[in-house]
Amino acid sequence: MTSVDGTDVRAAGFVPPPYPYARLDGLLAIASEHEGGAVDMSIGTPIDPPPPEVTAAFSRSGAERGYPSSPGSPDLRRAASRWMARRFDIAVDPDSIAACIGTKEFVGTLPQWLRLRSPDRDTILYPAISYPTYEMGAILAGCRAVPVPLDAAGRLLLSGIAPDDAGRALALWVNSPGNPTGVLDDLGAAAAWGRANGVPVFSDECYVEFTWSGPGRSILQHGTEGVVALHSLSKRSNLAGGRIGFYAGDADLVRYLLEVRKHVGMMVPGPSQAVGIVALDDDEHVALQRERYAARLARMADILGVWTGQQITGPAGGFYLWFAVGDAWTWAERLAREGGAVVSPGEFYGPVAADHIRVAVVQPDDRIELVAQRLGV
Ligand SMILES: Cc1ncc(COP(=O)(O)O)c(C=O)c1O
Repeated sequence: MTSVDGTDVRAAGFVPPPYPYARLDGLLAIASEHEGGAVDMSIGTPIDPPPPEVTAAFSRSGAERGYPSSPGSPDLRRAASRWMARRFDIAVDPDSIAACIGTKEFVGTLPQWLRLRSPDRDTILYPAISYPTYEMGAILAGCRAVPVPLDAAGRLLLSGIAPDDAGRALALWVNSPGNPTGVLDDLGAAAAWGRANGVPVFSDECYVEFTWSGPGRSILQHGTEGVVALHSLSKRSNLAGGRIGFYAGDADLVRYLLEVRKHVGMMVPGPSQAVGIVALDDDEHVALQRERYAARLARMADILGVWTGQQITGPAGGFYLWFAVGDAWTWAERLAREGGAVVSPGEFYGPVAADHIRVAVVQPDDRIELVAQRLGV
């Protein structure tokens, strides 16, 4: 069993590696020297307010008194089903939908539950450039974390998966729109590969409401057999603090996961479940948020494009700018020094991305203009 830096963690005893964003403290200190402070565009944490009628549900539900349902209340699961019907034109049985406490914990714990179910398998496949928790979840479960190479368009190169790895795989992760790349993957191809190889496919679709190129897509539009889609209200509804997510799809997989998760007390707090229902039934606030991110992506691409003299194009989905800069740490330090902005070096998302930078446009417009002013553009 190997850790991120290749050491045998059983021999050494597991030492958690530094949390990626803790490695940005130096850049934060440099950016903070600017009058007006640092403009933090490193972590993709939402900053805009959810609608008041959504947040009001936190205090109105009375659901804080008793233990909440671990798979989620019937009303929450039905609201998730209604949302998927509106958004993707698909009918998903509420019994094949279950809640998670935000999606990070689901990503981080899934491998151990799958490994208990299929002890003869030990491998998690995940995109070579991706959200770090896919790899970390595998490591925490004592599994092999095997990155899947990407093609020239940034999609999973499914033909690049070695037959031995496919035969040992507990799951294939796909993430569309992708963090950090913004790429829209071929979800039909991922589902077909999983079925052909007997590998469950987990599709992290937490940025789907911010799809800029065509309609939002779900892997469940290609059937539910052997596939599970993962959704979050963190980004869609600016409710990252409420910790509300859900997974949906293959009836057997969802049933197994919700049963095992009950035993460890995985429960979205009742007031958060109540908020989730109101948020899922409302699309207007999402349309407004879409406009905000679209405008910020365009403005930030423009600012950094003028500053660097390079053309920076927006993503096909999500709220990150992702572009090559050469030595990412040096580039990020210069931006912190000159613009007072903090961004993430590509190596956080995979060693093959060390020459890239990720910029999360999660700052209000006036803070983005402050960066422009500092950079003199
Ligand atoms: C690709 C991806 N998946 C999952 C998450 C986790 O989000 P949450 O736990 O808030 O649902 C994030 C958060 O940034 C993400 O980028």
